[in-house]
Order: sequence, then C-alpha cells, then structure tokens
Amino acid sequence: MKKIIKNGTIVTAADTYKADILIENEKIALIGQNLTDPAAEVVDAEGNYIFPGGIDPHTHLEMPFGGTVSKDDFETGTIAAAHGGTTTVIDFCLTDKGKPLQNSIDQWHAKSKDKSVIDYSFHLMIGEMNDDVLEQLPSVIEDEGITSFKVFMAYKNVFQADDGTLFRTLEQAKKLGALVMVHAENGDVIDHLVNKALEAGQTDPIYHALTRPPEVEGEATGRAAELTGLADSQLYVVHVTCEEAVEAIAKARKKGYNVMGETCPQYLVLDQSYLEKPDFEGAKYVWSPPLREKHHQDVLWKALKTGDLQTLGSDQCSFDFKGQKDLGKGDFTKIPNGGPIIEDRVSILFSEGVKKGRISLNEFVNITSTKIAKTFGLFPQKGTISVGADADIVIFDPNVERTISVETSHMAADYNPFEGMKVTGQPISVLSRGDFVIQNKEFVGKLGKGNYLKRSRYGELTSSKEELYQK
Ligand code: URP
Ligand code: ZN
Ligand code: ZN
Repeated sequence: MKKIIKNGTIVTAADTYKADILIENEKIALIGQNLTDPAAEVVDAEGNYIFPGGIDPHTHLEMPFGGTVSKDDFETGTIAAAHGGTTTVIDFCLTDKGKPLQNSIDQWHAKSKDKSVIDYSFHLMIGEMNDDVLEQLPSVIEDEGITSFKVFMAYKNVFQADDGTLFRTLEQAKKLGALVMVHAENGDVIDHLVNKALEAGQTDPIYHALTRPPEVEGEATGRAAELTGLADSQLYVVHVTCEEAVEAIAKARKKGYNVMGETCPQYLVLDQSYLEKPDFEGAKYVWSPPLREKHHQDVLWKALKTGDLQTLGSDQCSFDFKGQKDLGKGDFTKIPNGGPIIEDRVSILFSEGVKKGRISLNEFVNITSTKIAKTFGLFPQKGTISVGADADIVIFDPNVERTISVETSHMAADYNPFEGMKVTGQPISVLSRGDFVIQNKEFVGKLGKGNYLKRSRYGELTSSKEELYQK
C-alpha cells in the first residue's frame, strides 16, 4: 500500500528541509510539499526528523567465537537493529582455510535468510591468499555481490592472516573492484604480551586491555595503510579506537592513500576503567581492540568531524555475562570478545554527537548511513532520501529523553554495556522498503522479510573515487 509521510523534517547528508514523502512499491516515489493521494495511508511525522535508515557496516550475528557463539542471531539482532533505527546490516562471513569460500557464504545465507527482518549483506573474511582463493574471488563478487574482503591482523592462530595475504588481497581488490577491511592490531606482539601476563599470574579482565596497548593498533594501522599505498588499493580500517591509529590513517590520507576508518559507539563513550569493575564485571567490556583511556575519545570525535574517520559501525558481537563472558574467569584470554551494541549505535551518535554539538545533523546522517552506503556499494539504493531510493526511513523524535537499559533493550544478551546512560532522541517508527518494521516503538515486522543485498563494486556507482575518499 502507498504511504505519505507528512510534516516531518527530512535530513540527508546534504540537506535539512520540511517536505512530504510518497512511498510506492517499496521506493520513495515523490518528495514535495502538501502531497496528497486518496489511496495512500498518511503517516504524521510532525515534530520528528526523517532520516535515511541507518546502515550498520560491522556486525557478527550468530558468529562462532572464543569457544561459543555470539548471542544475537539474525532474528534478535536485526529486530534490535530496527528498534535502533538501522535498516541494513553488513555481517562478516567467516571462512575456513582450505575450504571453498562458497561453503562459508552458503552457511551465512542459511542462518540469515528466514530470520532477518531488514535487508542485509555480507563481507567475506580472507584468511589466506593462494591460487585456489584467487580463482574463487571473481565469482564471490559477480555471483554473490560481495565486494568487501576482511583481513584480520590479530587473533593469532585463529583468524590472523600474514602480511603477504593482506598485500595480495589489496592487489586483488584493486584489480577486481573490492574494498579491503582490516582488523588492525599486531597479533604477534599481542600474543607475546599475553603470554608474559599469564606467566605473571595477571588473569583479570583489565589485562585484556593492558596486553593490547594503543601502539599495537597504531603500528598495524600504519602497516596496513602503507601496504595500501604500495598496492595503490583501497582500505577501510574497522573499529578504530585510539590516537595512534587515527594518526596513522590521517598520515596516509595526507599522502593521498585511499584509507578510510570506522569507529564504534563504545570507543566514543566508554573507557578502559570499565574493565576494572569488580566481581568480574569488567568482562562485559572486553572488546578487541580494547576500550582506551578517556583522552582517546576526543581524538575519535575530532576525526569524525574532520573526516579522517568516516563511519560508525556497531561491531555487534554479543555474549551473555552469565554462561559466556564468564568462560574467562581466572583467564582473561578466554573471555569472548565483543558486546551488544547494534540497537544503540544511532541514538548514541545522535545524543552524544549532534545534541552535544560535536557533529552536525547532516554529518550524523552521513556517518551512520550515507557514507556507509557509498563506501560499500549500496548507494543510491540505500543511504539517502531521494526519489527512486528504497523507502528505508527512520522517523526520529529528537527530544525524547531516556535511559539505556537491558530492561528496555531488544538485544538478546543479559546486559547492556551502556546501562544507565541518559540519551536524548529515539526512533519512533522505522520502515524497511516501505513497510513498517517498528511502529510507535513496537516491532511489527516479519521474520525473513529482509532481502539479501548484492553490492556493486567499489566506486562503481558513485561519481568518483575522490568522492569516496572524502568524508
Ligand atoms: O571484540 C570484538 N571486536 N569482537 C568481534 C570480532 C572483531 O574483532 O571484530
Ligand atoms: Zn575486529
Ligand atoms: Zn568486528
């Protein structure tokens, strides 16, 4: 059925203006003043902003990790995402060395297809590069529309790839039109520091942070950036946490290298002291890279403003405190890394960013949606409010004040790392391709309604590579 959203203020990455939106056949059909259509359902958005649906470029739903599986799957994870104003997720498909890439992709399709309530896509992990993998890449791009490859520079003996693999992946990405993503931490040095800590009997959660200092992130980020310059390729650094990594990205960008960076809400508002909470509660805040000392937060905010960092991902990878995080009692290396973030990504950036004057409203839309769509080959179908785009729309009340709590959140894990945090603003209703998924804060969507998105090649649909490089 057709819909007209009336009286709202549309916000895109470029503009803020009052207009009505006509939705027909899943798309935005018309934007204008005083639109009428007797066949359309009228949705009143008076007093609210209309944002393009958020795009979360970094999720790990139902992912095997650390001897367990992340708690939110494509059902609970995408319902929570929708509550939080996200209408597309791009999840990381893990691969196994020596096994066909297509097997892993099929597994990811099997776990998402009948569950996802919003549209979704996959990045593909590259753990090794050899002739066999090389041969498979063209069909990953052509047939699956997977145009971003993830290389882990950490998690030794688990996901970590060597520099040769990273460099060859960068070369192939340039040739085939894909984007390389890196988890940038020096896994070999971390492994050494972790062994020393354990030998010294240092087993509490805080040692997770102390054995992964900012220098190992900065070094790996700089290394990946230099290799990108050498290969004349393109790089996206996931979950940037610290000054050292931001400096490495900024330096590379000054040299003209196509290096981009993402940060996550937890690094903007939480700090290393959370890992020292008593009764093992610090385990709730174990991520890799770890939370940093507070002064790094200012650097991240400034980088979002200047464009040295361009996007915000959630790195959603949730585990229960009881039964999952506590696998690491007495040995911090056994704490599964990650947390439940997907639902609060957009609201935290709005509240801490826009409301506190750190970024503009249009920058907020760019960081949570538009820039991500452009970077990952989804624009202009996703990431903006324009005629012809998918009607992925968030009706957002900018004034409601609330307190984040596990009691009211929709993620499956048994705690919320932002518990007690006061935020201003909340998505009221959320549409995915023209249908309500969230209506007046209630979930009204359908399992399996989300479509798998094949994405275009890096830079294919945007006007120029230079535009992608800019913020
Ligand atoms: O701690 C984290 N970040 N867990 C998820 C896996 C990853 O490294 O992104
Ligand atoms: Zn990572
Ligand atoms: Zn991640």
